[in-house]
Amino acid sequence: MQRIRVKTALASDAPMDFIRIQGWVRTRRDSKGFSFLEINDGSCLKNIQVIIDQDTPAFADLKDIQTGASIEVSGALMESPGKGQRWEIKARDLKLFGAADPESYPLQKKRHSDEFLRTTAHLRARTNKYGALFRIRSESAFSVHQYFRDKGFIYLNSPIITGSDCEGAGELFRVTTLPVNLPHTESKTDIFQDDFFGKEAGLTVSGQLEAELFACALGNVYTFGPTFRAENSNTPRHAAEFWMIEPEMAFADLSDNMDLAEDLVKHMTRHVVEQCSEDLELFARFVDKDLMKHVEMVLNSTYERIPYAEAIDILKKSGKFFEFPVDFGVDLQTEHERYLCETHFQKPVIVYDYPKAIKAFYMRLNDDNDTVAAMDLLVPRVGELVGGSQREERYDVLKRRILESGMDPADYWWYLDIRRYGTVYHSGFGLGFERFLMMVTGVTNIRDIIPFPRTPKHLEF
Ligand code: 4AD
Ligand code: MG
Repeated sequence: MQRIRVKTALASDAPMDFIRIQGWVRTRRDSKGFSFLEINDGSCLKNIQVIIDQDTPAFADLKDIQTGASIEVSGALMESPGKGQRWEIKARDLKLFGAADPESYPLQKKRHSDEFLRTTAHLRARTNKYGALFRIRSESAFSVHQYFRDKGFIYLNSPIITGSDCEGAGELFRVTTLPVNLPHTESKTDIFQDDFFGKEAGLTVSGQLEAELFACALGNVYTFGPTFRAENSNTPRHAAEFWMIEPEMAFADLSDNMDLAEDLVKHMTRHVVEQCSEDLELFARFVDKDLMKHVEMVLNSTYERIPYAEAIDILKKSGKFFEFPVDFGVDLQTEHERYLCETHFQKPVIVYDYPKAIKAFYMRLNDDNDTVAAMDLLVPRVGELVGGSQREERYDVLKRRILESGMDPADYWWYLDIRRYGTVYHSGFGLGFERFLMMVTGVTNIRDIIPFPRTPKHLEF
């Protein structure tokens, strides 16, 4: 007997005499002479309805089958006389794998709040919304690999344990095998000599530095992996563990970099719209009524490109009250970023040429000696989705910038070496995978985008 997924059964164009499906009971309804089960197996948003006639042997097996139970149904796929679905299964046999106590099963038929579901993250993928979300997440990840493969980029696995702080922001989680109660009397270097790696180690905040090395050998590369930041910002847009997509291109300048960012975001968005239409519709109906308007905007507009100085000018002249005052030299906050793309331009905006003081050491110094060839892609709802730059390829300038940033060039000898042997102009960026998913689903909290979110004081599951 053919075992198939609910998605395939629902898409069938003809009845089938014998099929077998396995999944979890969403609801059970008993009426005179019949019982109805709604089964979901995670393959799609829709459930399949199962009808159990009291004259069949299956009826006797219904006893312990309640919401949440895992079962197997064998029977015939038939046209449904009822409204709302084309197909239903007339059950011949039922097999219960695991019962679920209806009294304590956390997922009741009503709609649950996101906050509640965060406390039930081990089960939340069984709800319509989270099932849809994690299918979209999976499809989006696929679209990333597809995009780069088609463009001839090489996929690089950059290390997760690292000895260098790429962003120079000191937000590294420490990795150590030293006892926690180690007395902190000796100097730092001495302590770490006895540690596993013999030096201070941390979880990576970005795979960029390694990606640069490989771009300067393989041409175009990208990483797609988890990154970690111990920034204590409890915002709906920051997680301590998140996934980043980081392409790096040799022989590419800032403008090539912007082209790639815009094209990638459009590709990923189009893929979700085309491949996940049913799941996406749930978000457009129940999560954000303006969702499709924004998605269309991301897909169909030509993104605005403005220098940082001009962005500051627009914000200052806007007459809008911002919680964080705007002035040349300050970093843009989410409220500013959202104003630029939601209100002023009404489309995604790429801001470039930021003051060097607010950006990382590796960004290429512009001729004005004051700004760097940085770029941030800002999108409606989310603000910064992409951060990137053309990299400093001149050995002397880079070394100076490392020193100016209070770092030790000796720690970055290998990074500097790339500028000594066959240096090339090159560029890349990081796209926050969760931020992308927030943009396409309208979900406003990053905790609801990651299967098991890690944020300050939260490490359940
Ligand atoms: O702007 P960021 O810090 O850039 C870098 O890390 C560069 N090394 C990337 C590169 O050029 N290869 O981070 C890139 C993106 C941000 O635009 C944002 O979308 C996301 O990563 N991001 C976060 N997402 C979730 N939680 C956090 N704490 C994040 N920090 C950054
Ligand atoms: Mg950034």
